[in-house]
Formats: sequence, structure tokens, C-alpha cells
Amino acid sequence: PASAPIIVAIDGGAASGKSSTARALAARFGLLHVDTGSFYRQVCAKLMAQRIAPDQTEPIEAGLAAVTFSTQVVGNTAQLLIDGHAAGDDIRSEQVNTHVSHYAALPAVRAALLAYQRSQPEVARKHGFRGVVMEGRDIGSVIFPNADFRIFLHADQAARAARRAAEGRVDAVAERDRLDTSRKAAPLLCPPGAVDIDSTHLTLEEVVEKLSALIAQKLPPL
Ligand code: DC
Repeated sequence: PASAPIIVAIDGGAASGKSSTARALAARFGLLHVDTGSFYRQVCAKLMAQRIAPDQTEPIEAGLAAVTFSTQVVGNTAQLLIDGHAAGDDIRSEQVNTHVSHYAALPAVRAALLAYQRSQPEVARKHGFRGVVMEGRDIGSVIFPNADFRIFLHADQAARAARRAAEGRVDAVAERDRLDTSRKAAPLLCPPGAVDIDSTHLTLEEVVEKLSALIAQKLPPL
């Protein structure tokens, strides 16, 4: 019988290097890259386009109950489709950077994305991948506490702000982390037993090599 899909969970704060690391590991090990932050961004952009504020609990619940989530696999990336629509470039806008944490703190928003996120390893398997690299804030703590690998990445605030600036992006990473860490529902934290990596003084290649060595113990690289 085919073995169960491998699950690599990577959590960390804004600009901690999660996305670049997840992409590199996905390519190396034949895994589907699932960026759950993009899902929260997409939901945030949709609610903002509908002029629904984070404190409007009822319209948010009703709106999310009425939509259908599905997945489009593009290359080795999973894209969320909301009623058949993929995310636009606006999910990386300053507007969304500023507001996404307020929507992501809502239990109704998190609940709406829970089952969808848990379905991704099966999506990966159906598309011929060996599993998923899933990045976010609560993947190893809430979504997949029994993942094969649970990794937590952090970096000094100054290093993270510098990374965003080098990308030419405006993002108040410290404020976003403060909100994501202090919320009641699935706060950003390093879950007990996760591999905790401080990337402040490491290059992307060094982080990827460290994690590849770990994953290779269970899954040979392609
Ligand atoms: O990874 P990112 O910066 O694109 O994530 C955007 C926001 O989404 C982040 O500030 C908090 C939220 N998020 C979350 O609450 N849980 C996740 N698993 C992923 C992201």
C-alpha cells in the first residue's frame, strides 16, 4: 500500500524565512508547498472588498459559510480557490499586511479554514506528491500536531525588517507578530517538541541544509 503523505510543518513569524525555506524543501523532496498565510490573506482581501470589518462577526460567519473552497495545484504550489477564484496580487498589498492579523484572530475565520488545511496532504497525494510542506503560524500546534516534522523558525526583529526592506515591501512585521502572538485562537508559538531554529545569523541555504539533513533521515531527497 502507498505510504501516508509526509507532513512537514513550518511555523514562524512574519519574514522569518518560512516561505523561501518551504519552497526550497518542497522542490528538494517532491512535496506540495502549502502557504497557509496566503489563505488568510485571501480571506482578508475578500472580506475587505466586501467592506466587512473584523468586528462584524455575523456577516463574516454568514459569508464564509456560503463560499466553497477548492484547490488548484500550480507547479508544486497549492492555490486556494474561493468559489473558483484564485488570489490576486492584492493579497501582498500594504492594506492586507496591515489588516490580515485582525481577521486571522477571529475563531470564525480560523474554523472556516481548518478542514480545508487538513485536506491538503490528500490533495498532494492525488497529484503525485510525496506529501506537503505546510507553512503558517499554527501548523505544528493546531493543524497537524502529529506532523512528521515540526519546525519553528525565528529571527531577530531587525533581521526580519531588513529582509522585507530588501524585498522592497512595506510590512510592519513587529506589529503583525505582536497581534499573532497575543491572540487567543491558535497564537503563534513554538509548540513543545518542535525543532526550533534561529535564522538571524544563517543564510537561506544554511537553514535549508540543516532541515534537509533532518528530513532526509525519513525521506530520501529526489
Ligand atoms: O505568513 P504570512 O505573513 O503571509 O501570514 C499572513 C497572516 O496570516 C499572519 O500575520 C497571520 C495569519 N496566519 C495565521 O494566523 N495562521 C496561519 N497558519 C498562517 C497565517
